Amino acid sequence: MEEEIRALKTRKNAVIMAHNYQPLEIQRLADIVGDSLEIAVKAKEARADLIVICGVRFMAETAKILNPGRKVILPVKDAGCPLADFLTPDLIREAKERYPDAAVVVYVNSTAEVKALADITCTSANAVRVVASLSNDTILFGPDANLAAYVQRHLPEKTIIPVPPGGHCYVHAGFTLADVEAARKMGATVVCHPECPPEIQEQADQIASTGGMVRGAAVGDESWSVFTEREMVSRLRVLYPDRVFYEKREAVCADMKRTSLADLQRALEREEYEITLSPEIMDRARQAIERMIAVGA
Ligand code: 13P
Ligand code: SF4
Repeated sequence: MEEEIRALKTRKNAVIMAHNYQPLEIQRLADIVGDSLEIAVKAKEARADLIVICGVRFMAETAKILNPGRKVILPVKDAGCPLADFLTPDLIREAKERYPDAAVVVYVNSTAEVKALADITCTSANAVRVVASLSNDTILFGPDANLAAYVQRHLPEKTIIPVPPGGHCYVHAGFTLADVEAARKMGATVVCHPECPPEIQEQADQIASTGGMVRGAAVGDESWSVFTEREMVSRLRVLYPDRVFYEKREAVCADMKRTSLADLQRALEREEYEITLSPEIMDRARQAIERMIAVGA
């Protein structure tokens, strides 16, 4: 099936982009594997006729918004992000009424409709830099309250208000202090994603986006305990076979695991499922995403 997919990719002049949490057999076939920011930047630059995003819906929507003239497809129609579902346009409008002077910063793990209401978006790779770039003292930040706390810790001069207060990713919320203790016993360096709870962030040796984890392991210690979705560890083991990586077996994002080779083959054959969004939503969301890209990683 892999050969078939490669042939289809050439025939359709397609580019395949996969998130670091995608199953390894999908990552192997991808032209680009990366974190949310890396995928967004590469999707904007893509010149292929067909852009295939192996990940979840918000990633494919972001690609479409940044490159509206190309056909963007998501192989599994309803692969979503439960964290993104925490934030609705109404919640932002209500918060803006209460804090009219605040800037609205929206994590890319959000719907296009929500991004359209943001002043700027951010990813886990650039959240602190994005918020620091704003002159506003008060920032409405959603939907991840743990990432909001991370930004607050780095920028104590700002007031970061999480919208909604309890937005979280169930995969990262599952890490506990017992996991930190177990990692310490194994002598591993702990790297956690900023979606992990604040008490884990405080104990971790490093906090990084998934792309940051790839870069960090290239120069750092020999043994790592990786506090994020467990496929990240599969990727790190391929990249750095001489290092030791520990994963948490239960840390699985069910939606990320839904893309199979059969899905990818069918998606390329039928060019489905195409992302379509209203031009008005795309134009407004694009301003917020482009503003983030200008700030950088
Ligand atoms: P990254 O941008 O760090 O890859 O994170 C995306 C994500 O969904 C984390 O759960
Ligand atoms: Fe969303 Fe969490 Fe899955 Fe990332 S790991 S896509 S934040 S549910």
